[in-house]
Amino acid sequence: MLRVVLFCALALIELNGANSKRAIRTFPEGFQFGASTAAYQIEGGWNEDGKGLSIWDVTTHMEPSPILDGSNGDIAANSYHLYKRDVEIMKEMGLNFYRFSISWPRILPTGFSNKINQAGLDYYNNLINEMLENGITPFLTIYHSDLPNDLQKLGGWTNPIIVDYFIDYAKVLFDLFGDRIKFWITINEPKQICYEGYGFVDKAPLLNMTGIGEYLCAKNILLAHARAYRLYDEQYRSKQNGVIGISISCSWYEPATDSVEDQQAALDARRFDWGQYGHPIFSKEGGFPIELKRNVDTKSAKQGFARSRLPKLSESEVEFIKGTSDFFGLNTYTTKLAYRNASLEGMYAVPSYRDDMGAILVKDDSWPQGASSWLQEVPWGITKVLREINELYGNPRVYITENGWSTTGGLLDDDRIRYLRNYLDAILDAIDEGCNVKGYTVWSLIDNFEWLNGYSEKFGIYEVDFSSPNRTRTPRKSAFVYKEIIRTKALDF
Ligand code: NOJ
Repeated sequence: MLRVVLFCALALIELNGANSKRAIRTFPEGFQFGASTAAYQIEGGWNEDGKGLSIWDVTTHMEPSPILDGSNGDIAANSYHLYKRDVEIMKEMGLNFYRFSISWPRILPTGFSNKINQAGLDYYNNLINEMLENGITPFLTIYHSDLPNDLQKLGGWTNPIIVDYFIDYAKVLFDLFGDRIKFWITINEPKQICYEGYGFVDKAPLLNMTGIGEYLCAKNILLAHARAYRLYDEQYRSKQNGVIGISISCSWYEPATDSVEDQQAALDARRFDWGQYGHPIFSKEGGFPIELKRNVDTKSAKQGFARSRLPKLSESEVEFIKGTSDFFGLNTYTTKLAYRNASLEGMYAVPSYRDDMGAILVKDDSWPQGASSWLQEVPWGITKVLREINELYGNPRVYITENGWSTTGGLLDDDRIRYLRNYLDAILDAIDEGCNVKGYTVWSLIDNFEWLNGYSEKFGIYEVDFSSPNRTRTPRKSAFVYKEIIRTKALDF
């Protein structure tokens, strides 16, 4: 307790000092600030009250454990029991909104809508109501990585039947929560779901489906998203008055040199990484980007495949997917340098990934390094991402649905504060150029289970003590800074 009081006093003294400083940049009228989490990463209660198994429950219980620190999300931050404390934190912070996800198997234990788990509904109803009573707008993600394991047994996102089951699930959520939820995200980070889950072994279900499964997944995800959007648009919007979109992870890839090859490599990498989902949904012409098609088609031919590993989208599918998002949900953290050819030493991405992408990605050692191997602080990268979204997709409304920094722990997180301020400053640069950014969401409200890296990387602006039975939450210094930014809707330097 004493530690917390002393810490708060120190943080406040520093903040007051900062207030007397130089220039102030303000956010536009109506700009919203939030924080984000995801069900499996914080809830715990993995087998409580009728919840079914997700692919992460199965993955974290494998022997030997594939998780870096051997941990799992069985209890995690225990938000299943401590959601009231989480909402208290949101209030303490003055957040405008909170982005959270629903655990599909907590609501539908087997994934199918023939059996609804009442305790799961109660949990989310309580959470949503608690937020609303405290003036926090709920921003709901329908799917954030925790597929019901029974659906994985059918092939998960690689089986086209998943689209039907996803729609059944989405319908349950629209019916049960839509009276109170006005911001929906269908799917979080499709590329990570597909590439890391079915392309190489970096996310559940840890499958390497020989360069084919990841693209089947991509097509099915695009169709599932588009159908959910159209269902909401046609049958719910007029009654419920909400907006619905998708969150795509976009890193900036900067040409490593100004050679024509490296310029093209950086462009190919961006089209591969986020154009794969952005183009079909947001571009005027729709469909996969030509760079992606060219690279995967050529590579497939060289490998002797009779057809491209990238499935075709028919003309009617292109039309069906096009225009199905009310906003661009942007998850963005970092930047890499792209080479067309380079020695593999220092290469960031794994080879199979690199080959289809047409680029080799490397880090620049001069950029500040986070606790996550892939995370470096490069604020101008976010300005470039926002500029490209503006130029390519006709300046859509953008909510930054995730951005944040990892440390190895501790309450004095000056590097996170620097990252946060610099990224917000770079976002203001993009807004000054005319980018239509409406909100910012820090990842994350509290420390949580960072997938294969377990609890070794801390993203929370609130620390969670995972050794204490009640998972005590304590604000980090960055929480005080973010709170001040939200209160003043400004950055001072
Ligand atoms: C993106 C993912 O949506 C989230 O689950 C993850 O924890 C953060 N990035 C940090 O890696």
